Amino acid sequence: MKDESRSAVYPSLEGRVVVVTGGASGIGEAIVEAFAAQDAQVVFLDIQDDAADQVMERIRRRGGRTPFYRHCDLTDIVATQRTIREMLSLYPGVDVLVNNAGNDTRHTLEEVTPEIWDQLMAANLKHQFFMAQAMIPSMRGRGGGSLINMSSISWVIPSTGVPVYVAAKAAIVGMTRALAHTVGKDNIRVNSVMPGAILTERQRRLWLTREYQAEVLARQALKRMILPEEVAKLVLFLASDDSSAITNQSYVIDGGWI
Ligand SMILES: NC(=O)c1ccc[n+]([C@@H]2O[C@H](COP(=O)([O-])OP(=O)(O)OC[C@H]3O[C@@H](n4cnc5c(N)ncnc54)[C@H](O)[C@@H]3O)[C@@H](O)[C@H]2O)c1
Repeated sequence: MKDESRSAVYPSLEGRVVVVTGGASGIGEAIVEAFAAQDAQVVFLDIQDDAADQVMERIRRRGGRTPFYRHCDLTDIVATQRTIREMLSLYPGVDVLVNNAGNDTRHTLEEVTPEIWDQLMAANLKHQFFMAQAMIPSMRGRGGGSLINMSSISWVIPSTGVPVYVAAKAAIVGMTRALAHTVGKDNIRVNSVMPGAILTERQRRLWLTREYQAEVLARQALKRMILPEEVAKLVLFLASDDSSAITNQSYVIDGGWI
């Protein structure tokens, strides 16, 4: 699994312009690196500038096409739209959008005020819609595209401790299906990805206690933790022309969680 030379190469991704939100760390970082390894032109947005610099430096050292990074707080839709306009003036168009950024900060039922509800929806759902809205005209102009929205299995399994996050992740699957039928006539495909427990740096730092890991492994058919790179491989496939007939779908990647 670690031997990248044995991973798929998608010739259709070479030179494609791919926008990734939340690409400076976690699953998004793995997605940025995976597209760069396919020689795609990656543009990524995040708020962690130092982490983004490290990602770019690693790709540069490896000799890949240098990604373009912009600091952008996706909860600020006006600023995000401005950033997208600026980006679109630099590139001939966009082929792929990966709506990856999210925030799973724990919150109890009781502490959710109307303001916190809005903040959590802004962090997890709202930007996915407005990013898609901003990119679709460019994809139409290119004759098609692929949009991949990061959901989660959290709304399917019995999960507790993040009720608003879970509501947002369920909504993403509904939005995916609505958009797929809105833009299918333009040859734009829209799918979502539903990861299980993925071993990111943040998960490791904040939530991955020995007890939680034991619970995850008991739930999964595969008795090992699933890695961000494995999610990235599914995203590559959905972005490539090899998945040209796939739209309106949601793909679970969770090691067989029950
Ligand atoms: N890790 C998991 O186990 C898991 C499971 C299911 C779904 N997911 C989903 O996968 C996606 C990535 O999760 P992750 O675990 O890699 O998270 P992460 O926290 O490790 O990384 C998220 C990235 O998004 C960026 N980001 C967050 N809010 C932002 C904002 N307002 N503006 C710009 N950038 C912002 C962060 O700075 C970070 O670089 C999320 O949508 C998450 O809900 C993750």
